[in-house]
Amino acid sequence: MLVVSLAATLQVSAQGIITNVLGRNTFSLNGKWNYIIDPYETGYYDYRYEPYDKNPNPSGGYFLDKHAQNKSELLEYDFDKCPTLMVPKDWNSQDARLLYYEGTIWYRRLFDYKKSNPANRVFVYFGAANYETDVYLNGKKLGKHIGGFTPFTYEITSLLKDEKNSLVVKVDNKRKREGVPTLNTDWWNYGGITRDVMIVELPVTFISDYFIQLKKGSKNLITGYVRLDGIDKNQKIKIEIPELKTVAEFTTDKNGVADISIPVKKYEAWSPASPKLYQVNVSCETDKVSEKIGFRTIETKGADILLNGKPVFLRGICIHEENPIRGGRAYSKEDAQMLLGWAKELNCNYVRLAHYPHSEYMARLADEMGILVWEENPVYWTILWDNQATFENAKTQLSDLITRDKNRASVIIWSMANETPVSEARTNFLKNLAGVARSLDSTRLISAAMEVHTNPGDPLTKIVEDPFAPYVDIVNFNEYVGWYDGLPEKCDKINWVIKYNKPVMISEFGADALQGLHGDSLSRWTEEYQEDLYKRTLKMLSKIPQFRGVSPWILCDFRSPRRVLPNIQDGWNRKGLVGENGTKKKAFFVLKNFYDQQEQKYK
Ligand code: GCU
Repeated sequence: MLVVSLAATLQVSAQGIITNVLGRNTFSLNGKWNYIIDPYETGYYDYRYEPYDKNPNPSGGYFLDKHAQNKSELLEYDFDKCPTLMVPKDWNSQDARLLYYEGTIWYRRLFDYKKSNPANRVFVYFGAANYETDVYLNGKKLGKHIGGFTPFTYEITSLLKDEKNSLVVKVDNKRKREGVPTLNTDWWNYGGITRDVMIVELPVTFISDYFIQLKKGSKNLITGYVRLDGIDKNQKIKIEIPELKTVAEFTTDKNGVADISIPVKKYEAWSPASPKLYQVNVSCETDKVSEKIGFRTIETKGADILLNGKPVFLRGICIHEENPIRGGRAYSKEDAQMLLGWAKELNCNYVRLAHYPHSEYMARLADEMGILVWEENPVYWTILWDNQATFENAKTQLSDLITRDKNRASVIIWSMANETPVSEARTNFLKNLAGVARSLDSTRLISAAMEVHTNPGDPLTKIVEDPFAPYVDIVNFNEYVGWYDGLPEKCDKINWVIKYNKPVMISEFGADALQGLHGDSLSRWTEEYQEDLYKRTLKMLSKIPQFRGVSPWILCDFRSPRRVLPNIQDGWNRKGLVGENGTKKKAFFVLKNFYDQQEQKYK
């Protein structure tokens, strides 16, 4: 026991992703947090612009919830007297003064926590915080996290008190050229602690990670691994699937890892039509954890996508992580329910979660609802391809996403990027990312939203040709014929040149329409224009021989600082099929009809 606490006392460690935190006993820190707006980062840098917590054992960071010990002590902040923000929630939609705010806000949450077992270890878990986050507990720095859309955890065993713990979190959502994403995006840069915060109590040696899925290309062999974290790494592991009367035992090696291989004969494969999930119990001598997992195979054969060996057409829609009705980032199960509910109403069997990892609730709910999922790393438009730190950042965000969702049957595609301009540096960057993804998970498909080009002098011939295409399993591209490129009638004349013997999907197409604005089909911004574009586009795409799926841009109108047309956009991208107020536009029903037909075709 002493060894553990000694290690914990010596240093406070950034913990890798703990798989299935949602399946653990947790103590929520959601709710009201006091906050300080700090545009000049006075709480972080001294007047020489030197960071307070630059020394190796920092007790710094200025806004560390200190209280004047006597009437003469100088302290120029006091969290106790500060207003509050809700967590989880972006700050932009909580206060009109913060709608456009990009900078630093300090959060503080006081909490009492008595361990259920004094020997246990304790961690603080964040579902996500955008973008750069520094975390302090009881005046001590826990660590810094970069990236706005993936979970992070710190061990706090050595710092925790039974009462009056002070958790201080500095969140800075300033956009950075070397960032992932970088300076320009077509979505609102919501800042803050945007997902759940929880205390997680775990045994001294616990099950930190596991991968339990069917082996690539096999219908009858579950493979993967289980990893332990703690001092007692060499243990017996048991995996049970009670409904399949399956029990398998393995032993971890000195690093606490056991590779698993479990034959399964008769089981119900997971699919949108029957999203069967099995209770899976993973245990070792000191810990146990359970969750519901589905088993399905996903692969490509020539131009076909095979789900459980059968050709499937992906009837999709793109989704941003936003609740248009309430405004702001979506973060809850209910938000996920609303968004995936609309997708189901469209008769979708697939969604593209754009352009960054959405909350874990989305993939888990897609598992239950029977919706196939594309998940994406926020490598968007023109990031710094030659910058090693940018690559490491992208790699970490991708790895964290895969670690978090690798046991989700619904997730079938890892996307490396969106609309990135072709260059050697870019293609190498994406190739390396694809390599990382395949090394972490060989069971799923790799793709990216690529671009289309035309030969000068022949605007009606569209060519999909990308040096990254040989490294993907599915060729996906975005096209905006009829919106950014001509009028909808142009769709009728387009000739597509796509020389890949791979499944082809259209990851985006669309047109803006203000819900409730009506006119003739040539009047931009009207529902009729959007409706006409959908009809002509779906007809155009259906002529592509390798056409195996589509995810139009986009399910709902969403906020974007790039969209400024008064009385039409007013800070919103209006390409949704559902308006800001939740009302469906005419094109919604065009797509639904098309999907009803596709469903019949692939029955
Ligand atoms: C792009 C991009 C989206 C954007 C959309 C649009 O293709 O990928 O992020 O919102 O087009 O212009 O509406």
